[in-house]
Amino acid sequence: MGLALFAAMPVFAQQKATINVHPGQGKEIISKHIYGQFAEHLGTCIYGGLWVGEDSKIPNTQGYRNDVLQALKDLKVPVLRWPGGCFADEYHWMDGIGPKENRPRMVNNNWGGTVEDNSFGTHEFLNLCELIGCEPYISGNVGSGSVEEMAKWVEYMTSEQGSPMAKLRKENGREKPWKVKFFGVGNESWGCGGSMRPEYYADLYRRYSTYCRNYDGNHLFKIASGASDYDYNWTEILMKNIGHRMAGISLHYYTVMGWSGSKGSATQFTDDDYYWTMGKCLEIEPVLKKHMAIMDKYDPKKQIGLMVDEWGTWWDEEPGTIRGHLYQQNTLRDAFVASLTLDVFHKYTDRIKMTNIAQIANVLQSMILTKDDKMVLTPTYHVFEMYKVHQDATYLPLELNCERKIVRDNRIVPMVSATASRDANGLIHVSLSNVDLQESQDIELNLGEVKARSVTGRILTADNIGDYNSFERPNVVAPKGFTGAKVNKGSLKVTLPAKSIVVLEVK
Ligand code: AHR
Repeated sequence: MGLALFAAMPVFAQQKATINVHPGQGKEIISKHIYGQFAEHLGTCIYGGLWVGEDSKIPNTQGYRNDVLQALKDLKVPVLRWPGGCFADEYHWMDGIGPKENRPRMVNNNWGGTVEDNSFGTHEFLNLCELIGCEPYISGNVGSGSVEEMAKWVEYMTSEQGSPMAKLRKENGREKPWKVKFFGVGNESWGCGGSMRPEYYADLYRRYSTYCRNYDGNHLFKIASGASDYDYNWTEILMKNIGHRMAGISLHYYTVMGWSGSKGSATQFTDDDYYWTMGKCLEIEPVLKKHMAIMDKYDPKKQIGLMVDEWGTWWDEEPGTIRGHLYQQNTLRDAFVASLTLDVFHKYTDRIKMTNIAQIANVLQSMILTKDDKMVLTPTYHVFEMYKVHQDATYLPLELNCERKIVRDNRIVPMVSATASRDANGLIHVSLSNVDLQESQDIELNLGEVKARSVTGRILTADNIGDYNSFERPNVVAPKGFTGAKVNKGSLKVTLPAKSIVVLEVK
């Protein structure tokens, strides 16, 4: 298929694309943890977003908002990272346990200087995970915390009995330990987590992680604080100096216009900005490949997971909101960043074992926005909800031929993105995104040896790429039934409208 210059885009017509799925070649499982979330003490992510406290007028269960709890259950959140982010390396967990009135306050230096009252701490977080049925992923403090503090936190959360920390936990009302699998040893240790050099951090990782013990049948999956996007040297040094002492190494990649100056509005953007965003988001693939090539050198059996534990869009804060709280709206453009990025993650599911979009509520590319007692689900939420059929399903390789455009910064963007999987019941799900803003796609979708008998689907689209859900109009961008796919002699013919995301279920 052709390579069109975006600048010279001519007449609007239907484009053609072909997709060949290979069900017989499916062998890797798409870890459900790729659909992970992230909740930091930042702005109104925790306070107001997830937690309002037992005495709030907002309907709640033990202090957690009922509307948000239900939305998160519907989303099948597999894992939730907490308490940061940058906040993690200034967080002292003992300030967040015991009677709330005795908990000390602190200033959240990273995020707007907000006063943190520590009313949401270890118990509140781990109980939330139990309520929504997800695994907790704790980020430990290496930057400003001690080895002893980290070791005691693990003991407090996971040891059954007999230990001083288990006794303290019981005094604080929790008899049984929680199950905590994922444990991060620091966050962004090259930056807000301590401004370290990789060699120094590698040694600290070895030291801190030595004392993070496995208690009473709980087995920690320890994750080293990894690189930021293009910093391949960080990955190299950690792989060399830490190696198999870590079960996972993290990576952060944001779809962002740059770290200084304006990052652009979340809602006011041109078509050119939109296509640039698609190019920047897809650049995660070559970045991942370079990090994974380094990992392959030291770990050819792929025993160490790559955990992209922060990703997503980062725009200017909404006008009128508090500086440093990273509150941004979320449009259909953000939904495309979600679908395209998840499609990429699926391809490398043999190495990528977890990812955590930043963040779950009211911060950056969130799932949920709240204002007092109101809640809206963002377009990104809807992508995660539609895509949940891929969690723990078998990844099915595919080839895709479609139009491509050269966009700003000379990146090449295919106009169609696709991914396919087969679930435990044998159902095949194919997700398709038509990135093109004007033209529909006429897609021939072949399923190899599988002969399709019937197909159903759901579609996410809107009149404009900048459309979003507000508290006044919460359903502007929401999934609807899709009838544009037809079975034709065992294959499928799909007409994918411009700027639409579709998930098909094939029997
Ligand atoms: O997600 C917001 C921030 O981005 C996190 O706190 C930090 O780890 C990253 O720089």
